[in-house]
Amino acid sequence: MTAQIIDGNALAKQVRAEAAGRTQALKARGIQPHLAILLVGDDPASQVYVKHKVADSEQTGLHAALERHPTTLPEADLLARIRALNDDPSVHGILVQLPLPRHMDSHKVIETISPAKDVDGFHVASAGALMVGQPGFWPCTPHGCLKMLDSIGYDLKGKHAVVIGRSNIVGKPMAMMLLGRDATVTICHSRTRDLKAMTLQADVVVAAVGKRNVLTKDMVKPGAVVIDVGMNRNDEGKLCGDVDFEGVKEVAGWITPVPGGVGPMTRAMLLINTLQAAERASV
Ligand code: GUN
Repeated sequence: MTAQIIDGNALAKQVRAEAAGRTQALKARGIQPHLAILLVGDDPASQVYVKHKVADSEQTGLHAALERHPTTLPEADLLARIRALNDDPSVHGILVQLPLPRHMDSHKVIETISPAKDVDGFHVASAGALMVGQPGFWPCTPHGCLKMLDSIGYDLKGKHAVVIGRSNIVGKPMAMMLLGRDATVTICHSRTRDLKAMTLQADVVVAAVGKRNVLTKDMVKPGAVVIDVGMNRNDEGKLCGDVDFEGVKEVAGWITPVPGGVGPMTRAMLLINTLQAAERASV
């Protein structure tokens, strides 16, 4: 069997088209969706990420205001800036790009963002809302993964999903979202003993460890859906995921590529969260 590819670029394009429509509807009511992006320091990867976030927003008609702050910015000044943005009714979403410089406490910074503007979905209130099934903001990466499953019409009810990786922004929220769809969920991680025994039982595998070849062909049940959240470099310096794509695609039923899989979906879901924030603020 050769797996069918879930094309993240194509799906993200559809999501952006939906976002553009929702943006127009807000603008027709005199509301300009507005995302504030705060970048502290000069981390090269972060610079690229925020550039994409701004470009995606502007292409969709959302206003993205990028603020660059020096690495030396005192934490108290960043917190004060966030509080000012919390109080500004023209700002709907606030995103603080991570990682932050070492002198800052990321948790404290994120907790300073108003939950109503937490479009990254990283605030404890957002995590709690997802946990108890109340409206909040879902983190963009797992939300994008769920959209990818929806795009192939996959019914998760009663299925076994194995999530590899237990981060607060991917693994744990992903598990909650899958549980919310009546899947049975196992969360594994890099220290799980006999990971293969787990993944071989899975109808859906989400790999989010940040290490190459975490999932190989011998670990996948024939026909399973494989979602690859990883972003790594191979020996030739080329972008690759956590999944041995060439091997696993011979066994899986569906698979997401890297690049062109989860990455574009993560970016697209940020637009959706920002629009959701603007729509909620305007009712
Ligand atoms: N750094 C890497 N990915 C992300 C993300 O999704 N949000 C934020 N705020 N920082 C990041």
